[in-house]
Amino acid sequence: MSVKNIGRSSGLKGTVCVPGDKSISHRAVMLGSIALGTTEITNFLEGADCLATIGCFRKMGVEIEQRQECILVHGKGLRGLRPPAGILDVGNSGTTTRLISGILCGQDFTSVLSGDASLNSRPMGRIITPLRNMGASVTSVNGNGCAPLKIEPGRIHGIHYESPVASAQVKSAVLLAGLYADNTTSVTEPSLSRNHTELMLQNFGAALSAAMHPDGRATAELAPCTELYGRQIHVPGDISSAAYFIAAGLTVPGSELLLKNVGTNFTRAGFLTVCQNMGARVTRLNETVQGGEARADLLVTPGRLHGTVIEGDLIPSLIDEIPVIAVMAACAEGTTVIRDAAELKVKETDRIATVTENLRAMGACVTPTEDGMIIEGRGGLKGAFIESHMDHRIAMAFAVAALSAEGESRINNSQCVDVSYPAFWETLDMLR
Ligand code: S3P
Repeated sequence: MSVKNIGRSSGLKGTVCVPGDKSISHRAVMLGSIALGTTEITNFLEGADCLATIGCFRKMGVEIEQRQECILVHGKGLRGLRPPAGILDVGNSGTTTRLISGILCGQDFTSVLSGDASLNSRPMGRIITPLRNMGASVTSVNGNGCAPLKIEPGRIHGIHYESPVASAQVKSAVLLAGLYADNTTSVTEPSLSRNHTELMLQNFGAALSAAMHPDGRATAELAPCTELYGRQIHVPGDISSAAYFIAAGLTVPGSELLLKNVGTNFTRAGFLTVCQNMGARVTRLNETVQGGEARADLLVTPGRLHGTVIEGDLIPSLIDEIPVIAVMAACAEGTTVIRDAAELKVKETDRIATVTENLRAMGACVTPTEDGMIIEGRGGLKGAFIESHMDHRIAMAFAVAALSAEGESRINNSQCVDVSYPAFWETLDMLR
């Protein structure tokens, strides 16, 4: 257990290279493991979640080299994984659990997935249902719809799945299982969630098409696949990690920050739209696209923020940034309303509850609702004891709040940032 003390800052200055994107790093290891040939991954995120994914595939016989400058995944092909000796430990990682389940359904061996207390209390029914519809044998070992999950060999067939939630993890689990089907697999979701799996499957040679419907729903369709082929992947910086420094650059007067090589895929960049809607200036420089993934340098100019409404199709594109958006809203002028975000309740913590608890501790006026929160922005946050509840995004969002608060804040279990941003505290100290 560690506690981090943070006081008011007179401005953050410098250039930041945020670590590689967590979602893309997971997918690069997964697809690399089941592709033919070697996948070379640069700017891989060596956070605890992605290391859990590496650990699982190593246990299934995949050779994965962690070099200084890159990760080399020596793929086994679609049907080359070996039965693991013992449980596959997924740690705190929902992405590992849900995506790997799709792959495990297509194997001819039994496997069991289990993680930490938070992971083992998150809902897995959302993947169990469609995977069973595909012919998979997936059971919640304790019968509570959560991990540990036992996955036994089954014959997988393609389905069309109408997902009740806009969740990239659900969509990806179905598409990855679809790699083992001998007919087409498709998923329609109520709004488009992050599309990294679709882009990477295309990049690895799968025949996948994606379409938007006039009512905002989105469909991804995967044709039967014989093999995937290893690729070079350069992972862009994680916009979810960049968001903390963008928010700090906007809320701490006197800041001057440039963030290099940040992923700006439109299915992830809702945070930048919200910044703009709150009156902030974040300028995109040096825009490029690699492997289908857009990226840019982001120049952050401090300024006055005002309240906004965040809802509907925008929510999936910023779901992980809502804790830090809530902090920005508390520092802004006027009311911010966040709705259609009930998914917040099933993240590493119930983030409606943990954001409310900590914003209130700092003196902010926040009303939790069934699917979001209402924040009366009036600035004037006070330093407080912040309970991270071991949720990396709560620890980092409230570190940002502490930078503009009066007096010192103490962030409990601050080491939980290791999940997605191991160098977060060092980077923050360097910029102060
Ligand atoms: C992720 C998808 C999101 C996100 C999570 C990472 C992914 O979850 O919150 O941190 O990599 O697919 P949902 O798909 O459940 O919304």
